[in-house]
Amino acid sequence: MKLLLQFIFSLVLLSCIQETKNKSVTENLSDPFLDDHSYSNLNEIKTRHLHLELDVNFRSKKIFGVARHRMLNLNNADTAIFDIKGIEIQKVTTGEKNAENEADFVIGKYDKDSILGQPLLVKIDPKDSIVNIYYKTTENSEALDWLEPKLTSSKLHPFLYTQGQAILTRTWIPIQDSPSNRFTYSAEVKVPKHLKAVMSAKNSREKSENGIYNFSMPNSIPSYLIALAVGDLNYTPLSSNTGFYCEPQLTKKCKNEFVDLPKMLVAAEKLYGKYRWNQYDLLVLPYSFPFGGMENPMLTFVNPTIITGDRSLVSVIAHELAHSWSGNLVSNKTWNDFWINEGFTVYFEHRIMEELYGKEIADILALVEIFELDEEIIRIKNSKHPEDSKLLLNLNQRNPDEGMTDIAYVKGAWFLRSLEARAGRKVFDKFLNYYFSSFAFSTISTRDFIDYLKKNLLSQQNIDFNYNEWINQEGLPNNKIEISSPRLLKMKELAYKFSNEEDVFAPKIRYERIRIKKKIKKKKIVEQLKKEDFITQEWQMFIRYLPKSITVDKLERLNSYFGFNRTENAEIALDWFTLCINANYDGVLPDIERFLRKIGRRKFVLPLYELLAQKPQYKNFAKTLFDSQKNYYHAVTKNSVEKLFMN
Ligand code: BES
Ligand code: ZN
Repeated sequence: MKLLLQFIFSLVLLSCIQETKNKSVTENLSDPFLDDHSYSNLNEIKTRHLHLELDVNFRSKKIFGVARHRMLNLNNADTAIFDIKGIEIQKVTTGEKNAENEADFVIGKYDKDSILGQPLLVKIDPKDSIVNIYYKTTENSEALDWLEPKLTSSKLHPFLYTQGQAILTRTWIPIQDSPSNRFTYSAEVKVPKHLKAVMSAKNSREKSENGIYNFSMPNSIPSYLIALAVGDLNYTPLSSNTGFYCEPQLTKKCKNEFVDLPKMLVAAEKLYGKYRWNQYDLLVLPYSFPFGGMENPMLTFVNPTIITGDRSLVSVIAHELAHSWSGNLVSNKTWNDFWINEGFTVYFEHRIMEELYGKEIADILALVEIFELDEEIIRIKNSKHPEDSKLLLNLNQRNPDEGMTDIAYVKGAWFLRSLEARAGRKVFDKFLNYYFSSFAFSTISTRDFIDYLKKNLLSQQNIDFNYNEWINQEGLPNNKIEISSPRLLKMKELAYKFSNEEDVFAPKIRYERIRIKKKIKKKKIVEQLKKEDFITQEWQMFIRYLPKSITVDKLERLNSYFGFNRTENAEIALDWFTLCINANYDGVLPDIERFLRKIGRRKFVLPLYELLAQKPQYKNFAKTLFDSQKNYYHAVTKNSVEKLFMN
């Protein structure tokens, strides 16, 4: 009888799946309006707590896991649907650990180009509330970056980290992978004894004796914020509730770079209310990490490119810290609402920077981004999807990564800044404070935000504001506030002068009369602008203001003054190399190669390959370099660059 039932179950499900083309499974089995990027039937049944048992095996580069989902069945559902991609399911059971019953399951079709992966459908009795999925990861588990020792700072030990956002958590955990659901999690993780495991959860600071680590995340979070890293890691506290993990020999450099973190946390709390996650730590990853920072709760992951020695890129930390409110406390409901995470965070980041370093610096940071936004808007306008410059996106049938543009970040922040200017800072801050506490530990859609805005700011203050134009129309509305910076105007002037023959950086010699022992003598004084006279962002803008047609001779002269070809600052390097490629300065290719062999952050890697691939004389160079380097990049970077060389 049981066998017959199983057979029928399989037949029914298979009939749904045979016609699968991306979303048809969800269309048949659950509400398609929930989330375009998840197969899960969250309207019927959802995870409330997840317990993970993970065995991290560096030799086979696999994680062997059990994901124990404690679920809330809303609708007497007899099927629970999870998302999986690139993982192998070994068995599924229901019930408490050690009193489990094997459950039937079916895996939907997986087409090679599928963005979403596959639905895993588990047959349950409506009274079952625990589903245990036994699985192992594969080489297609794109969240995972397994690093050989040579890719770490010490070159002595291997390293592993995960990157879940946007829809990669399903590649290392079978899960209902939609940001619209929140749950708590715990984990028991076994790693090689000499390494330490850390997660986006409560961490122990010491290495364990037996290689077993226990974690708990007591606050509810969306699936994309589950994160794990394993390596030779040391903890250094910065204050009673902040600190950082890094490879031991990086400790000193990191400590110098991160000194202001405790002050940032104080400033953030003063602005928008109490920090709700208890501890805030950073984890410094190897160079292959595809992002500048990732706001994994309690433990932000950062890219070592932010460690410059002069703290000039600490706004990345302010940004990830701000996500503890915007993003982690109040999360975007779907990836179409991504600006709810990033726009608020960039706005908040600038406020933290202003609090710590003053308005002049905060405005410079904003202008660097606005310059990028202007270019992005033109790119989007001429692309296949001109509608992508709306804040509210439609990413149905597309990879949600495509929404990761300056629109969500910079247009989003500019919207809020313009709103602030209209309402007045005091009123706006009060509104944001209420916003964070009203929606704490929930997920909201753009619609939810609009309703809240109308009710709690616009009608209360009698303000008429074109929020609809900002959110649902392409490009930038006219009522955006204007920002200006005298310091950046000066860089523009220097760039203009330098490119029009006057060598503003050449040493200037003058003589001063000075009195030494009653005698008047002439003293030679050499004056020359130095690299240290300007901050990173001023240099970035100086380089961007130079014309693409600048001569190689001038580029070489700039390099002789400031050593841009070999700069260790990746932000300056990106702008410099971009200019050099545009100006056909071949002499810089070996330095570009060195850069692309060291760094895997997509923001730096993708635009350089893209530009090189567009130029017939550099295309082969780019392709050969990428082929030999691609296996050292994280899948996020590798897949993005690979597309450039297809066909
Ligand atoms: N959450 C993002 C990174 C992200 C976004 C990963 C979408 C995957 C999908 C993170 O907070 C971020 O925005 N990082 C930026 C740095 C920031 C200062 C703009 C980055 O990595 O460049
Ligand atoms: Zn962000």
